[in-house]
Amino acid sequence: MTSRQLQTVIPAVAAADGAGVRLYRSLGSHQGQRFDPFLMLDEFFSDDPGDYIAGFPSHPHRGFETVTYMLDGHMRHEDSFGNRGDLGPGDVQWMTAARGIIHSEMPQQESGRLRGFQLWINLPAKEKMKAAAWQDIAAARIPVVPLAGGGEARVIAGTFEQDGLRHAGPIGGLSTAPQYFDLRLPAGAALRVPLPLGHHAFLYLYEGAAVVGEDQPLPVRAASLLTDGDRVDLRAGAAGARLLLLAGKPIGEPVVQYGPFVMNSREEIEQAIADYQAGRLAWPVAAAPAGRDRP
Ligand code: FE2
Repeated sequence: MTSRQLQTVIPAVAAADGAGVRLYRSLGSHQGQRFDPFLMLDEFFSDDPGDYIAGFPSHPHRGFETVTYMLDGHMRHEDSFGNRGDLGPGDVQWMTAARGIIHSEMPQQESGRLRGFQLWINLPAKEKMKAAAWQDIAAARIPVVPLAGGGEARVIAGTFEQDGLRHAGPIGGLSTAPQYFDLRLPAGAALRVPLPLGHHAFLYLYEGAAVVGEDQPLPVRAASLLTDGDRVDLRAGAAGARLLLLAGKPIGEPVVQYGPFVMNSREEIEQAIADYQAGRLAWPVAAAPAGRDRP
């Protein structure tokens, strides 16, 4: 049994994306600051509509998956295949862009708090050109596991193991085997989470304070990359903690990124740009299981 320790910190930097949405980008803030298979993590969090109202108008993606997890507020997704989905607090959208999708992600509120995360997960070469797929996962479908030491874990993807019981989230069976847990710990609570050995794992503390491993403090608003091991040991600080725990199986292939296209070579990026310019990027979606609020 090896407990994972804090290895590298990638602090989030203030950035703007879409039509001027202000956000905090940790993974992906610079080329090379990735953690295979994870390409990017954005936190958007503002009470000021001026920071988010412009949203993310129509834009393409190819070669990876995007996962949007809302904590507060309301966003609407619409894509080139006619899918539409509304995301409210606790909802998740899992989009496999693969060979191509063009979509928009627009706030559906003119005031109040908008808060959530967008994670990009890479696809292996053999899956980059498969058909796009899309699903919305309502908050009610996401298991909430009460923790023995207090608090709870929301299991968005993968399997959360606690006291010998395994709790499977709504997303599974992917080649990168992502584990995506949102943890809420009360003051002083300790938590041990088993994780697959060999997966790349990181934490993102977004509220409160906590330590990992041998009492290493986690910075707030940063991707805290962990060493390998078969478990993570956490303890919340005096005010409790809210944090994401993410883990995935590394792909181990070259990554060539140009904005919203992530491929294995420059030639494939040039092809993606040419396909987008020629209107060939987005073909029909293979499946959209569990979609809701669709026209
Ligand atoms: Fe997008």
